[in-house]
Amino acid sequence: MNELERLKAAYQPAQVQELSEEDMRWYREGKFGMMLHWGLYSIPGKGEWVMFNERMSVGEYARLAEKFTAGDFNAKEWAEAAKRAGMKYMVLTARHHDGFCLFDSKVSSFNSVNSAAGRDLIGEYTKACREAGLKVGIYYSPMDWRFPGYFFPNLYFDNAMEMRRQCHEQLQELLTQYGKIDILWFDGEWLAHGGIKDGSQGWYRDKDYGKDPLFFHVNYFWQSEETINMIRRLQPGIMVNNRFGWKGDFQVRERYVGGMRTDKPWESADCLANSWGWIQNAEMRTLIDSVQNLVRAAVRDGNTLLNVAPTPTGGLEERFAKRLAGIGDWLKEFGDTIYGTRGGPVLPGNWGGCTYRDDMIYVHILEWHEDYVVLSGIPGKVVSYTARNAAEITLAQTREGVVISVPRKYRDSIDTIIELKVDGPIRWEGVEPFELGIYGLGDGLKKEEKQ
Ligand code: GLC
Repeated sequence: MNELERLKAAYQPAQVQELSEEDMRWYREGKFGMMLHWGLYSIPGKGEWVMFNERMSVGEYARLAEKFTAGDFNAKEWAEAAKRAGMKYMVLTARHHDGFCLFDSKVSSFNSVNSAAGRDLIGEYTKACREAGLKVGIYYSPMDWRFPGYFFPNLYFDNAMEMRRQCHEQLQELLTQYGKIDILWFDGEWLAHGGIKDGSQGWYRDKDYGKDPLFFHVNYFWQSEETINMIRRLQPGIMVNNRFGWKGDFQVRERYVGGMRTDKPWESADCLANSWGWIQNAEMRTLIDSVQNLVRAAVRDGNTLLNVAPTPTGGLEERFAKRLAGIGDWLKEFGDTIYGTRGGPVLPGNWGGCTYRDDMIYVHILEWHEDYVVLSGIPGKVVSYTARNAAEITLAQTREGVVISVPRKYRDSIDTIIELKVDGPIRWEGVEPFELGIYGLGDGLKKEEKQ
């Protein structure tokens, strides 16, 4: 047995304090948040994995801090843009896998206070979020590419342990220096990228990564369960995602919406432009696509966390601000069919899906594959209906279900919305949970091949 295996064999996970539905209500109701990836990697503009992908030396990468001025950073402007988009919370990379901190860390000098910026950016960010009435989220990567022990934990075991200590101490800093934090968003808990291999070109990330539990299921390494309890002691009610070796209060799906899940809060993390970290002229989502993505998550009972990449100096591209405002305009008009609803009680499909609240069902038709949509399984009888954005619709209650059709010229190009009022409050037990991605494994759920 090597030291890592011994650590694993000796590990006894603590009982984690779970949150109640009430604790997480704001999140379920809020539906929409902004993610921001910003750090030294924004400067070369090749995405947040540039240090690893281009095999930059730790020293060479660290020199980027001299150019990290944060000259256009104004946290209030970010918070305003998020609010304008109809978002209810924000999540900023306090530290990505490169180890560079946007906060004043006593345990690592590789931070923004020691960069050209000379400021604690997390301090400004958390304050601005709170002042704007948004919930405050912090992204934190426990792993750190500067540590050889991360890549080769057996060979450099003590170094890996140092990385772990840094993680625990920085979590304490983040959770005690900045007031109330509502979300802790972990990313990159696996060791050695879930398993690395040696090849003729040197070592590389195993394409089957995730298969070796020694590197992938690493709660024994981070002492995840005790750490979550520590986090909750410092910040009661904080929501933690499923990327720290524990199943999480909520589940993250990365860049896909996936099947429906009603047993547990979840979010689809996705990008407004085609990268997490800033890239010049990255292709941006259309308004239709942005809104439809949000709707597709909501009808599946989930949230959307939309990543907006700030420029190297921390500004927001004008085109991003405009797109966000466009999404916000749509939500101003139709947000009542999204916020505070649950997904269901009809199963979604490519055509769209439904959200509901009390005795109201909001039908969202995004694509027409036939000239009509059949909604089966509606509990109760439809007593009245209103088309929100179509001049003319027909609705029939048949044995197969409620059949809706809208003449082609009256269909909305983004989302044709029809409200149905049923004869009593909707009670629906939801669907059996399943997950598609590898990140779902922390939940003990089986990975499904199909949607
Ligand atoms: C992926 C990317 C990582 C990014 C994360 C956001 O894991 O590799 O860089 O931060 O997605 O969910």
